Amino acid sequence: MAQLWGGRFTGSINELAWNFNASITFDKRFLEVDVRGSKAHASMLAKQGIISEEEKEQIVNGLDSILQDVIDGKLEITTKYEDIHSFLEANLIDRIGDAGKKVHTGRSRNDQVALDMRLYARGEVEHMSELLRNMLNCLNGIMKDNLDTYMPGFTHLQKAQPVTLAHHIGAYYEMFKRDLLRMKDIYNRMNYCPLGAGALAGTTYPLDREYTAELLDFFGPTLNSMDSVSDRDYLIEFMSALSTIMMHLSRFSEEVIIWNSNEYRFVTIDDAYSTGSSIMPQKKNPDIAELVRGKTGRVYGDLMSLLTTMKGIPLAYNKDMQEDKEAFFDAVDNTSNCLTLFTDMLATIKFNKSAMEKSAMMGFTNATDAADYLVNKGMPFRDAHSVIGKLVLYCIDKNCSIDELAIDELKSFSEMFDSDIYNAISLETCVNKRLTIGAPSPDAMKKVISINEEFIKNY
Ligand code: ARG
Repeated sequence: MAQLWGGRFTGSINELAWNFNASITFDKRFLEVDVRGSKAHASMLAKQGIISEEEKEQIVNGLDSILQDVIDGKLEITTKYEDIHSFLEANLIDRIGDAGKKVHTGRSRNDQVALDMRLYARGEVEHMSELLRNMLNCLNGIMKDNLDTYMPGFTHLQKAQPVTLAHHIGAYYEMFKRDLLRMKDIYNRMNYCPLGAGALAGTTYPLDREYTAELLDFFGPTLNSMDSVSDRDYLIEFMSALSTIMMHLSRFSEEVIIWNSNEYRFVTIDDAYSTGSSIMPQKKNPDIAELVRGKTGRVYGDLMSLLTTMKGIPLAYNKDMQEDKEAFFDAVDNTSNCLTLFTDMLATIKFNKSAMEKSAMMGFTNATDAADYLVNKGMPFRDAHSVIGKLVLYCIDKNCSIDELAIDELKSFSEMFDSDIYNAISLETCVNKRLTIGAPSPDAMKKVISINEEFIKNY
């Protein structure tokens, strides 16, 4: 056991308590950000004349050499240390002696861990943005290729009105675009540097917090030292945004699973993203989509876990906050895996266009347009709704679609029907006449695609 404290103690800690208290098994992923933060802190201490330039050089070189040795596998991070902060400080003192003992001047592990988490989370916000951009590019490609791929649009999972695949995929584009915008909001709110807050009440050393913040690419220092060491809002916000991404991925997964079913056959998932059954030789299962849907619950759980941890904590730092890490790491790891895999699966999925189109032609998806046809001939909409309703009932009985009826049959429901009805309710017309922005016609979709391409170019 190599601890940073001990002067005040006469006995030694119980082994179980030591292990219970330690965080090194999971905070070792802070190695790089902790080194970065300590180097910036040392540079600021030297600029302020609190340590000498030479001591700063020794600290910076010492930290770099430790980092390199861990990367090269020459130095192991072991449970002999309580946390990553202790590991680095102890090794620094081993390597450079007295100068190493000065790195913690004007600093507490409370503001140190607050800084590490912020630097780490900031990197993850950037990483997640990159994955979302990849998803948006993939969706945009599918949209451009499928402006005329007809499919049924659903409400209540019942066929409603015809749309195109471009339009359906475009709905997910909007969701992931909002997710990307949320990343930017979170970044802008969280990007302030907590270092210099000390244990909770700042410090009596003449620190230059603006300078440290600048060295670490923050907009500036945080403005209240008690809040700085005990704020985890930005993690909660980030995990809530991750939960929303997962919710979107889960809805999309559910659709892929339905589309992939034997009954629908709208898609074929590439073998690279499917699995078989140990007993049923015919099976090709959409396990990746199912697991993405399943892991959504887990990410929600991570968010709830941190919200619950934080709810009863008095100011300022309390050890409960150490519990932020495993939940947060689990949420970012899983969301990033799911986003990556789902995007790759989509990029290789085959859309069965003829099955989609056939399905769009069945199920009276043109019934609204048939009613609109009568409205255009002068019938009030409510009456037209009733006429087409009766017509649908008749067709169900005859097991045919509206456009399969002869003109005389149609006329027996309303004299207003004419031979132009067939063109008015064709799949092409139903889609192509929906021209308002946001609607499925290829012309409207092209406008949306160009707006989106402009958005992503500047993002
Ligand atoms: N491992 C601790 C955490 O994750 C670091 C801060 C420890 N500070 C303290 N006063 N014990 O929160």
